[in-house]
Amino acid sequence: SADELDARIRAAKDALGDRVVVLGHFYQRDEVVRYADFVGDSYQLANAALARPEAEAIVFCGVHFMAETADILSAADQSVILPNLAAGCSMADMADIDSVLECWEQLEARYGTEPDAEGRVPVIPVTYMNSSAALKGFCGEHGGIVCTSSNAATVLEWAFARGQRVLFFPDQHLGRNTAKAMGVPLENMPMWNPRKPLGGNDDATLDAARVILWHGFCSVHKRFTVDQIDRARAEHPGVRVLVHPECPMPVVDAADGAGSTDYIGKAIAAATEPTTFAIGTEINMVNRLAQQYPQHEIFSLDPVVCPCSTMYRIHPGYLAWVLEALVRGEVINRITVDAAVAAPARVALDRMLAARP
Ligand code: 13P
Ligand code: SF4
Repeated sequence: SADELDARIRAAKDALGDRVVVLGHFYQRDEVVRYADFVGDSYQLANAALARPEAEAIVFCGVHFMAETADILSAADQSVILPNLAAGCSMADMADIDSVLECWEQLEARYGTEPDAEGRVPVIPVTYMNSSAALKGFCGEHGGIVCTSSNAATVLEWAFARGQRVLFFPDQHLGRNTAKAMGVPLENMPMWNPRKPLGGNDDATLDAARVILWHGFCSVHKRFTVDQIDRARAEHPGVRVLVHPECPMPVVDAADGAGSTDYIGKAIAAATEPTTFAIGTEINMVNRLAQQYPQHEIFSLDPVVCPCSTMYRIHPGYLAWVLEALVRGEVINRITVDAAVAAPARVALDRMLAARP
């Protein structure tokens, strides 16, 4: 039962004390978040993985790419544990290293490798945090960098200072929304289709490209629509619409604000008057915010609520299982990134951590 699980998790955490740190993403269900020593967005959780080098284990309640990142950033003798190994991210799976390498080869053939008069190389690869360690490693090896939804503009500025153009993967929407807000015209942001030569683009389009977008997307965030926003505005005059930048561009344009999961929480926390908020992000987080701020009316833009099914795979039962194993001295569901990949991935992650103003 839930009470039994609660007692088991608490007992295991008490027994382990400072030997373990439990990290939780904002999208985790309440029954998991309540045991987290730190809850945050993916940028904050990357920093949290660096913060406790003396802990033996980091139990990461989130998805696979986050645990991989934690392993790359944490101390060598720390183990990072993903309570359920089936907690992946469908967006991260949309860019595989072979397709990206093939794309890179075609871009090199087209643009060459020589820097221009200002010393900017032809293409800088930028990967969204929501990607495999292999892609982060690819970026580290090719002068590139990682971004999250909370620092994407800072990172793109970093990349534009060093490159004539950017290859951005896997999330087309974060790439498009961020570049557009920085003034890059849509006609200079072609998409890359890995199944077609030159991504399906003609020479003129590629000549004019500033940002080349991969075709990935988040199946949770692509569900939000402008119609939902119109309806919320009609039914709730004065409503403030806040969405995640993984939403399609028309949705971000129609919203009052767009930002990371941390941005959305902080925007609500900052409201001094009772306010109605319609939110375009994962439902577990929206429901938690609604409970946390009873003075406001907070609801999801999408009436057919859709959780992130893979985040949801971290059930408290798995948390109890991995914590109890640690108490017995056993490490299960450990996520380890091969040193050959981790070293260049660390370079790309460190560039991101340093680019943050
Ligand atoms: P944040 O970086 O905003 O936490 O987003 C992570 C994520 O997976 C959103 O779908
Ligand atoms: Fe991946 Fe979307 Fe889930 Fe975030 S919400 S972990 S991008 S599937």
